[in-house]
Amino acid sequence: MSKLIKSICLIEPKKVGIQSVSYPIKGNNDVLVKIEGMGICGSDIGAFRGTNPLVTYPRILGHEVVGTVIESGSGMPDNIKVGDRVILEPYIYCGHCYPCSIGRTNCCETLKVLGVHIDGAMQEIVRHPAHMIVKAPDMPVHELSLAEPLTISLHAIHRTKVQSGEHVAIIGAGAIGLMAALVAKVYGATPILIDILDKRLEYAKSIGIPHIINPTKENDVEAIKTITHGRMAEVVIEASGANIAVQNTLKYASFAGRIALTGWPKAETPLPTNLITFKELDIYGARTSKGEFEEALELLASRKIEPNDIISKVIKFDEIPDYIQELSDNPDDYLKITAVF
Ligand SMILES: NC(=O)c1ccc[n+]([C@@H]2O[C@H](COP(=O)([O-])OP(=O)(O)OC[C@H]3O[C@@H](n4cnc5c(N)ncnc54)[C@H](O)[C@@H]3O)[C@@H](O)[C@H]2O)c1
Ligand SMILES: [Zn+2]
Ligand SMILES: [Zn+2]
Repeated sequence: MSKLIKSICLIEPKKVGIQSVSYPIKGNNDVLVKIEGMGICGSDIGAFRGTNPLVTYPRILGHEVVGTVIESGSGMPDNIKVGDRVILEPYIYCGHCYPCSIGRTNCCETLKVLGVHIDGAMQEIVRHPAHMIVKAPDMPVHELSLAEPLTISLHAIHRTKVQSGEHVAIIGAGAIGLMAALVAKVYGATPILIDILDKRLEYAKSIGIPHIINPTKENDVEAIKTITHGRMAEVVIEASGANIAVQNTLKYASFAGRIALTGWPKAETPLPTNLITFKELDIYGARTSKGEFEEALELLASRKIEPNDIISKVIKFDEIPDYIQELSDNPDDYLKITAVF
């Protein structure tokens, strides 16, 4: 009988547990990685609740992962050897469709994200394509799993080409929006963070976000107008997934402004497209990330983005099922939970 290892598995919606699975068998172009740390993501909670249409069951979770290479494979980056700590790039692309052919592998027509479309890395040992690992800097392992969600925030900032001196209105003060606001600051821009939860906004303010707005309590458009001296925001990033927030991006943007849509709304959003034409807005989708792990790791290692500002709690691997339930029951109580073995 083959050796068994532990994994965190969604057996079906609302049913998560620790399951034994076979020790992975690696191909020539794969590495084996002993997993050491992993973040729990909002999408894991969506999968748990059964509201993520991309997830099929049973499914092993985990795409925000860090571990140590225990077996090498062909195609492994030159700077990595067995025994090195690495981050997994969890977006598996085909390499030959149109977006892949122009280097936009994150938009691959058949993109498979670990823990969503295919089994993820919340396991003791995983097999992973050898070329899709990034060397981790020397820092605590529980902080390293923040690299993946930080690349999502970075991707929105890069898609909209945020410049120093600009105002960036960011809707949603969850982990993704808050980190986008922190990156905007690092880039010399002025973030304006918008959320409907005072608790999240107050926290953002306490870690240095200069402007916060709760649209249920004040006039959001007027507040942004005042902060931007009448111009409105040159860049708007939608990181809440709320339909109304997608609509608001058009109101918050300046003339000739740029918008990134990172949030995943669950339903269609009706839009007054005349505003897009009138303001000549550039609207960018922003999906996962591409080539942004090195920068994310540099930001975390240098503490330009302080990992502990985002991590609400560190747990053990065996506690993940309980905390998936807890996050499903009380999503607003935590920004990010990371687990270690
Ligand atoms: N594009 C991608 O590849 C990608 C990757 C990861 C996450 N996401 C999406 O990004 C979004 C943010 O992720 P997260 O983990 O930070 O989520 P989160 O749930 O922690 O944060 C969302 C925040 O939006 C706020 N919000 C809800 N409705 C709002 C409204 N009408 N106006 C203003 N704020 C509102 C919530 O109060 C919450 O603080 C989600 O939609 C998620 O699915 C996209
Ligand atoms: Zn995630
Ligand atoms: Zn492809």
